[in-house]
Amino acid sequence: MSIWIDRVLTAGLLVIIALLTITAIPVIGGGHLEGRWLLAHMMASGAMVFVLPAFGITGLVRAVRSERFPKIRRAAFWIILVAGFFTIATVFLCMLPLPSTDQMHQLIFWHAFAGFVTTASAILFTLGLVMSRRTETTN
Ligand code: HEM
Repeated sequence: MSIWIDRVLTAGLLVIIALLTITAIPVIGGGHLEGRWLLAHMMASGAMVFVLPAFGITGLVRAVRSERFPKIRRAAFWIILVAGFFTIATVFLCMLPLPSTDQMHQLIFWHAFAGFVTTASAILFTLGLVMSRRTETTN
């Protein structure tokens, strides 16, 4: 049962990260997120706020038990958690009445940076998943 919860959360998180990355693409051309892209980004981000902690908890339980996971998968798991947390925290800080406009611009810069690190680690994590599948089938 717990393995299925873990699988659903992992698949869900990877889809959410893919959506967040796709909706962030307009920024690569040097612009800012707006209109429908921002709306879609916000919808996916709401899901990530719930799914990331759940993925962290179930993943921790499995990681503690599973020494045979490839290193790449275990490292990517931690990077997703840390970078994902920073991605959320930078937006959360912008919502508090504390940072100045300049500081908000900086926070959004670091948000984008942490977001793309999350994307890269999700790719690594998927690679780790494929590698553990291969070892499972060959053993
Ligand atoms: C893989 C995950 C993510 C990536 C790659 C990503 C990337 C980006 C990028 C590149 C921008 C545009 C920054 C700019 O305008 O210069 C942006 C904006 C934004 N993101 Fe994300 N993001 C991710 C996750 C999230 C999450 C989890 C949240 C909310 C908790 C979120 C909320 C926002 C908001 C509110 C904006 C608009 C900021 C503004 O310009 O006013 N994003 N994101």
